[in-house]
Amino acid sequence: MQVKSLLYGMVESLEACNYHWKVAKFRPDSIKTIQTRYPAIYRKVYEDLLDAGTNNRSVFGNEYRLEGGLQLQQRPSEFAALITMLISRRPFSNYLEIGAASGGTCCMLNRYLAPEKIFVIDNGSHVDTRSLATNLPPEKTIRFTGDSHSAEAATFLKTHLDGLVDLAFIDGDHSYLGVWQDLATVCIFSRIGTLFVFHDIVVTGVRRCWREAVSGGLLKPIGVFVDQYHPLGLGLAEFMGRS
Ligand SMILES: C[S@@+](CC[C@H](N)C(=O)[O-])C[C@H]1O[C@@H](n2cnc3c(N)ncnc32)[C@H](O)[C@@H]1O
Repeated sequence: MQVKSLLYGMVESLEACNYHWKVAKFRPDSIKTIQTRYPAIYRKVYEDLLDAGTNNRSVFGNEYRLEGGLQLQQRPSEFAALITMLISRRPFSNYLEIGAASGGTCCMLNRYLAPEKIFVIDNGSHVDTRSLATNLPPEKTIRFTGDSHSAEAATFLKTHLDGLVDLAFIDGDHSYLGVWQDLATVCIFSRIGTLFVFHDIVVTGVRRCWREAVSGGLLKPIGVFVDQYHPLGLGLAEFMGRS
């Protein structure tokens, strides 16, 4: 038993070393580098987020000026850095969000990135799910209500996508296997360079999936945004293709 856990420990350490080596090699951007490179845009986005509101200030940050509004479920510093970096990567044709809850994050990304089409996959079980319809622009949003791991979710994408996904935000099932399943589904509809965003990369099963996808060479991290005081972590990566 002891030998087994020692072995697991060694494998974990090796995997972590590999992850850190890859991250160091690619030098992804951080909140600090984005703040330094685009100070005015970062500040504007950050202020905008604080006014937009969160669904829980004690979880997502007391910096938010209200509880309610768009009911964002993001740390403002992390999300502001992500949006600022993505602005420099526009335009986007097809944006996909898996796990949209009330649609607040989707609404902010639409405001700043203006993708041509928005695809949302959510099982509708979040308490704020009723706000989805009002927070998403109806003229360009196509929704699938159900399990993102189901065959129907993949069929939904196959049926409605004209082309491939340009930007995917994965924030649904946070279990290790659940995140891998979502990643695998989106990979089918991705090209080399498709951008993937993962929320909660420093907690839960997302952390392990993110690290494995990076160390395995499936994803190249270009932004790792982790709040200094209350980290949840947003990871931004380029899809490197299926080998
Ligand atoms: C953390 S919330 C998403 C927050 C949202 N992205 C935001 O930033 O405001 C997770 C969402 O994923 C949904 N969800 C969880 N597991 C899912 C699954 N297997 N398939 C589809 N949606 C799922 C939940 O119902 C919830 O709406």
